[in-house]
Amino acid sequence: MILPGSGSQALAAELAAELGEELAPVEFERFPDGEVMARIGDVSPERAVVVASTATSDAHLELLQLQDAAREAGADEIVTVLPYMGYARQDKVFNPGEPVSSRAVARAISANTDRVITVNPHEEAVCEFFDPAAEAVDAAAVLAEPLPETLTEPLFLAPDDGAIELAETVCAAYGEGETDYFEKKRLSGSEVEISPSDANVTGRDVVVVDDIIATGSTMSESIAVLNDRDAARVFVTCVHPLLAQNAVTKLARAGVETVIGTDTLERPVSEVSVAKVVAAQL
Ligand code: R5P
Repeated sequence: MILPGSGSQALAAELAAELGEELAPVEFERFPDGEVMARIGDVSPERAVVVASTATSDAHLELLQLQDAAREAGADEIVTVLPYMGYARQDKVFNPGEPVSSRAVARAISANTDRVITVNPHEEAVCEFFDPAAEAVDAAAVLAEPLPETLTEPLFLAPDDGAIELAETVCAAYGEGETDYFEKKRLSGSEVEISPSDANVTGRDVVVVDDIIATGSTMSESIAVLNDRDAARVFVTCVHPLLAQNAVTKLARAGVETVIGTDTLERPVSEVSVAKVVAAQL
């Protein structure tokens, strides 16, 4: 049985259809004091697959409640699917006094699950923070699905070296093209500086590939460079379209026409589903 978090209902439904499993009749409520409540209904799943992205603090709480309710309902096995794992980017102490937030949330999630599956976490090593077996699946190939068949001399570009493997995956799924990456220096939480490579982009269609679009700074700076260098069409793709704060405005101001994201986060640009990739692990 599939137990969706409130922010992962579309993906959970796709996954249920893919696996031929029932969707639990979950309900979500918020109490007057602001606390959340996730109920799974009167069900008795043998295996409970909790599917919940944790992009907000409330989503983390909902996930813990769904796991707990599944155990209360007698589930023999609980599998936790984190399509998007929140706090995964704080995976070390960057400055004295900081927590390793991804380890803290992984420990909490581990308390009531037998297995964890996460999709394209920022660093795969985050899986080591979970107590039960945890695996990271790579769903980036689905980002190639909506691309036009007739890209001109396509270049699949990572905005920094950390995303080059994603760009290679999307390029391979598309079937033709070259890959390259820019250098990125992060100046603050919402400011980055992009140093372009010497790849010739003039007149070429460029597909920029990243794991997350958060504030949109990385993508909008990359696009400014590509526009300066007279790239033809620019397609912005990412696995996790977080689109926080004014990201949509930043991308629009940069002249982006097409953003393609997956349904690890339910946003207007979540054009492709990771359901088949996740289902293959279940
Ligand atoms: C960081 O290295 C990630 O891969 C993304 O590039 C980053 O999280 C995007 O953040 P933003 O959209 O805020 O620039």
